[in-house]
This record gives sequence, C-alpha cells and structure tokens, in this order.
Amino acid sequence: MAPISIGRRAAGENRGGPVAAVRRVALAVAMTGLLGCAAESAPQRSAEAAFSLPAPRTAGTVSVEDALAKRRSVRAITPDPLAHADIGQLLWAAQGITDPASGHRTSPSAGALYPLEVYAVTAEGVFHYLPRGHQLERVLAGDLRADLATAALGQAVVAGAGVDFVVTGVVSRTRQKYGDRAERFVFMEAGHAAENLLLQATAMGLGAVSIGGFSDDAVDTLLALPDGEQALYILAVGKRHE
Ligand SMILES: Cc1cc2nc3c(=O)[nH]c(=O)nc-3n(C[C@H](O)[C@H](O)[C@H](O)COP(=O)(O)O)c2cc1C
Repeated sequence: MAPISIGRRAAGENRGGPVAAVRRVALAVAMTGLLGCAAESAPQRSAEAAFSLPAPRTAGTVSVEDALAKRRSVRAITPDPLAHADIGQLLWAAQGITDPASGHRTSPSAGALYPLEVYAVTAEGVFHYLPRGHQLERVLAGDLRADLATAALGQAVVAGAGVDFVVTGVVSRTRQKYGDRAERFVFMEAGHAAENLLLQATAMGLGAVSIGGFSDDAVDTLLALPDGEQALYILAVGKRHE
C-alpha cells in the first residue's frame, strides 16, 4: 500500500483514493434516488432530520481541578456505544451554547465567529452537532470508525473507540474579520474545544485520547466535508477497560 500523506491537497484538487471515490459515488446515487435530481447536482452527503439530545448537565461531582489533575491520554478503551446523553454532554463541553441570547459557547472564539464544527463518528454513522438546539443530524450512514482509523495512520484506538469526535474548521468564517490571522485562531479554537471535551470525558470517568496523526485529505474525504471545511483534530473516547 502506498504511504498515506498526512498533508492536505490544495483547494480544487481531487480528494481521496478509490475507496473514498466509491463512497462518494454510492452516496451521490443514493441522494439522486432520494431527491430525484441529476447525479451531478447531488450533494456529497445527506442530512437526516435533526434530533434533540438530552439537555446537558451544568453541574457535576468532579471539580475542574480534579479533572485537570486526572486527565491523561487513555488508549485502553472499549468500542461499546456511549449513550446519546453522554455523547451530547461531550459535544456540549466542546461547542455547546451557554448563552442562548448571544449564542456564545463553552469554548471561546475569536470575534465570536465560531468557525468550528464537530462530528461524532459512531457505530450508527457520522453525526453532525448543531449547537443551536443541542441537536445531532446524521450526515453519513454506516460505521466508519475502522476507515477513520486507517485515515489516522492505522491507529487502533480510533477503530476501537466508542465514539470518535472529529473537530473541523471553516477558516473563511474567521478570515472575513481577521485576515491572515484566521488560520492561527481556528487552530487555537480547536485546541480549546478539544481540551474541554477531554476534561469532560475525564469528569465522566471515560477514557479519551487526542489524535493529531492523520491524513488530512483522507479524513476530509471520508466525512465528505463541504469545500472550505477541514478536519483539524480527532478525539477518541470510550469506556475504560476494566
Ligand atoms: C496535538 C496533539 C496530537 C496528538 N496526537 C496523538 C496521536 O495521533 N496518537 C496518540 O496516541 N496520541 C496523540 N496525542 C497524545 C499525546 O501523545 C499525549 O498527550 C502525550 O503523550 C502526553 O500524555 P498525556 O496526554 O497522558 O498527559 C496527541 C496530543 C496532542 C496534544
């Protein structure tokens, strides 16, 4: 097998290899059937009706100091599914709205422009988090954790996680105000969101590990990310092995 390049192709270049191409074609065909439109105008992914997650907890029994002291990269985790409430709690920690009037979130954002998106990759499919309403929408069907692990340079913990969160960024949202500083800001924000999620996982007694080693193009393609949106970080989370 040819080595995976971990970089990202320039905008406009084709993404992914044959497997990714087959997935895109299959999805486009499915969408054509659903929407009754020509294949060339079919979107690359479909979003099912969004569903609400249970309201997040805003109080707990583990202090911030405890979570900071206990957080460790834990790779001995199980692929057992996490409850939607737990997935929602972790997503809320990363990007949940804490002030509905302003839309401000758990994580700070330069200019409150919120360039990040978060996906949960589970056995049930790929789910996109909608902070407004604390909802999930499934955008891809099927269990893609093993494919995500392949894109993450074969790291077994990604395939064996209950859920892999993928933090993505849309730099153009921040660039409109901050120009050349935007990319740096978006990377900083991905770090904020990731650390929030890791501390929340720690407080919930779950195991979690940051995954920065992955092929950008392979993950972008696997998740069928829209143009201008790029994968920045993966957080593999699961119940700890006994
Ligand atoms: C940006 C970043 C990328 C990382 N990428 C990976 C990774 O691809 N695979 C992995 O197993 N751990 C990864 N880690 C976890 C580090 O190996 C880990 O944080 C480090 O060994 C310190 O251990 P601790 O997190 O338990 O304190 C990453 C951490 C960071 C901050």
